[in-house]
This record gives sequence, C-alpha cells and structure tokens, in this order.
Amino acid sequence: MPEFEHHIFVCENQREPEHPRGCCTDCGGVAVRAALKKEIGSRGWKGRVRANAAGCLDQCAFGAALVIYPAQTWYGGVSVEDVPEILDALERGDVIERLRIDPAVLNTPEAKLRARPREAGSE
Ligand code: FES
Repeated sequence: MPEFEHHIFVCENQREPEHPRGCCTDCGGVAVRAALKKEIGSRGWKGRVRANAAGCLDQCAFGAALVIYPAQTWYGGVSVEDVPEILDALERGDVIERLRIDPAVLNTPEAKLRARPREAGSE
C-alpha cells in the first residue's frame, strides 16, 4: 500500500471543564476529525489522506487545533465548516492564512493557555 500523501492529526484531547488549559474536545475537535474523515471518503482520498485523532498538541489556546504532515501546516480555531476549505487548500498545496497558527506563537507558553471555544454564531 502506498504511503499517505498527507496525514492530518486533530487534537481530541479532553480535560476537566475547570482545567486552566481547556481542551480541543470542548472546541469541537472530535467533530472536526469526523467531518474530515467523511469528506476524505467522499472525495475518494482514502489511502492518500488520513485524519487521525491526536492527544494534546500543545496549542491549546488555538483549539480546535490540527497539524498536517509532511507540510507541517498548523491550523487553529478550526470548525466543521472549515473542513472543505482545508481539503481544497491541501489539494492545491495552499495554506489558509485565516486558520494558520502564527509560527511566531507556535509552541510558546502562550500557545499552551486555555483554549477559547468559539461563540455560537461567530465565524
Ligand atoms: S488540548 Fe488540543 S492542543 Fe492542547
């Protein structure tokens, strides 16, 4: 079987509601991965692109967070609605700047702070 061309790791880490770091499950990480899997299947990309569950990626301030390898594209604040756009960009070899975690803050202490779930009705 050929290697995966793109491997997407979606944080599905879950913490207690009071935890100061929050978690991507509270930000929709589980639903994002499910939507990625469904969309990958409907595009016929199974075997080429894989979306796996990951534990904490240490970017909790940007939940729901994911990373795509081998490009090392980091996205934060991802919602189910973003999934088609993410896969479209992947196909083109592009990065969605509005979702991209700024490399200047990636893996900084600030990135590990509490995730901010999206407000209902917000983008
Ligand atoms: S809980 Fe998702 S990156 Fe930390």
